[in-house]
Amino acid sequence: MAKQKLLSGIQATGKPHIGNYFGAMKQFVDMQDDHDALFMIADLHSLTTVKDPSVLRENILNVAIDYLAIGIDPNKAKIFRQSDVRSHTELTWVFNCLTSMPYLMRAHSFKDAEAKSKEVNIGLFDYPMLMAADILLYDPDIVPVGADQKQHLEFTRDTAEKFNNTYGETFKLPEDKILKSVGTIPGNDGRKMSKSYGNHLPLFASDEEIEKFTMSIVTDSKAPEDKKETEGDTLFRLHELFSSEDVLSEVRNGYENGGIGYGDAKKMLVESIKAFVAPLREKRAEIAKDKNHVLDVLDEGGKAADEIAEEKMRDVREKIGLNIS
Ligand code: ADP
Ligand code: TRP
Repeated sequence: MAKQKLLSGIQATGKPHIGNYFGAMKQFVDMQDDHDALFMIADLHSLTTVKDPSVLRENILNVAIDYLAIGIDPNKAKIFRQSDVRSHTELTWVFNCLTSMPYLMRAHSFKDAEAKSKEVNIGLFDYPMLMAADILLYDPDIVPVGADQKQHLEFTRDTAEKFNNTYGETFKLPEDKILKSVGTIPGNDGRKMSKSYGNHLPLFASDEEIEKFTMSIVTDSKAPEDKKETEGDTLFRLHELFSSEDVLSEVRNGYENGGIGYGDAKKMLVESIKAFVAPLREKRAEIAKDKNHVLDVLDEGGKAADEIAEEKMRDVREKIGLNIS
């Protein structure tokens, strides 16, 4: 049976943290074997907020290196840059001409930006149409994204339907695949881990960063001999993610029956996180040394993506009347 087609993307806006990893990126790696997968670097989307060319350049390269370091294998999946495939912006324009302003004004991303009274550029307003083009050009069966992207996928499906109703069947409606919740990964203050709260641990953190993050996890003031609640406890939740079965059961036992202090539980967590992060960090450093290889991967992925997208775009141009031969 043919493999299901999958496409997803990450904006080039900064370093990923372990919330991003467990919430999204890890699942990309898990899905690359039994799907025909495309992973995009949404560099044009990043342009809505990143205005420094050297930062943008660095961010784009960093996402490519991150994808490779977590284990996306270019022999199995394609990694490509949005800006390498011109059809994305061309199709966005076509969608712009089918979409009304009041409809786009309902987007959470636009409303959030407006509420923060940021200057909302047209690119930010049009973000969902570019995302619809990203997806629909490739006819994917599924688009794995975090729950925060649900509305963007609804916009994508609506736009596909609008086009199909106006010009005839052209786009496949992608299935709404919201990533299985691993739950929200907490930051060291107990709130959702997020760059904007500054409570995060970078995925490729140094040993010092791991120590600093872990030792500052907020706990209550129970003594070592007290029984402790595992449910909703940030320190315990992180042990569940990073510790081996043996370490985890020792910590669970110490929580449920008393006998482990938070300080010791933190020291054990530091070791577990280091053991998890160190190989990833070393692999990333290795990959980063060979920039030419990274560029080759992007080049090859870009060409493969462009072929698929251009074929779709030819069909679109014909359907809308832009071909006159
Ligand atoms: P941030 O809040 O740090 O800016 P993003 O909004 O860029 O993170 O998140 C990108 C993706 O990473 C989301 O779609 C979501 O799937 C995942 N993600 C982010 N933070 C968490 C978290 N704390 N727990 C689980 N998943 C997360
Ligand atoms: N908007 C997505 C995010 O911020 C990134 C993205 C852009 C994307 N184009 C996409 C995700 C296409 C999936 C498919 O997370």
